[in-house]
Amino acid sequence: MDIKSYLAESKKLIDGCLERLLPPEDEAPATIHKAMRYSVFAGGKRVRPILVLASGESMGGDREALLHLGAAVEMMHTYSLIHDDLPALDNDDLRRGNPTCHKVFGEAMAILAGDSLMTRCYQVLAELPKIQDSVKVRIVSEIAAATGTINGMIGGQVVDLESEGMPINSEILEYIHHSKTGALLTACVRCGALAAGANPEELQRLSDFGSKIGLVFQIVDDILDITSSSEMLGKTAGKDEKVKKATYPALYGIEASRKMALDLASSALKSIDNFGEGANALRSLAQFIVSRTA
Ligand code: IPE
Ligand code: IPE
Ligand code: MG
Ligand code: MG
Ligand code: MG
Repeated sequence: MDIKSYLAESKKLIDGCLERLLPPEDEAPATIHKAMRYSVFAGGKRVRPILVLASGESMGGDREALLHLGAAVEMMHTYSLIHDDLPALDNDDLRRGNPTCHKVFGEAMAILAGDSLMTRCYQVLAELPKIQDSVKVRIVSEIAAATGTINGMIGGQVVDLESEGMPINSEILEYIHHSKTGALLTACVRCGALAAGANPEELQRLSDFGSKIGLVFQIVDDILDITSSSEMLGKTAGKDEKVKKATYPALYGIEASRKMALDLASSALKSIDNFGEGANALRSLAQFIVSRTA
């Protein structure tokens, strides 16, 4: 599978769906809709919706339903980026190659743009086409838990912020990374499969896969913060060290972190080794996540 063209084609489909699902810019009150669209369409790799698509399609899921689900999780993710960049959190000026939402629209509108992407996400999930109500409820619950306070994204963000400049250990670090980043990536893989009617054994294997590549994703993010440039990343490089963030390279060094990421990625692939050719897109995504340069 040519991962580059798979990513580019999937991104186009997701972006088309986001375009249809987000309120138009001129819808009143226009400022908030401009701010939401500004951050969603500023760029972004669309890794989470593509994971939804690859996981769901590996189980024979309906593309239209999976695209809506993917668009919803991308809204959730974009909300997390807008808030992550706020002065009270990571205080970043650059995101997806553009000035951050609060730099352009001010802090109040950026907070509200994040809030409204989250509420729109849940609305889209509740209205997923061609999915049984009972499955929709399960998906809403999984996404809420993955982005919530207990082993979820917000919990991870809390401990990430509280750990700045503090001595950390491997247990806390793994908690931060699994929670702030891994949980949503795992939920993407699981919910794509749930929408496609996966059985409990398949779901368990996909959870293992998702949890491992989720951790890999954040380890690589930490490494790139050191080894790449702001231009390549579209966000300010070298910040983690400056503010003494809890990162894998800070605790283990770059080389050991790289090896951990590679080992985790091959272990993730083992979790789905009985899945057949239908899961090739998922396998390529795991390769992409561990070897990405931006
Ligand atoms: C950045 O996520 C935040 C992390 C969880 C590391 P991405 O690297 O997926 O950012 P975009 O969506 O491509 O901009
Ligand atoms: C962000 O982690 C995780 C979430 C947005 C939930 P980082 O703070 O490392 O992400 P970047 O490096 O700013 O994209
Ligand atoms: Mg952060
Ligand atoms: Mg940040
Ligand atoms: Mg980072």
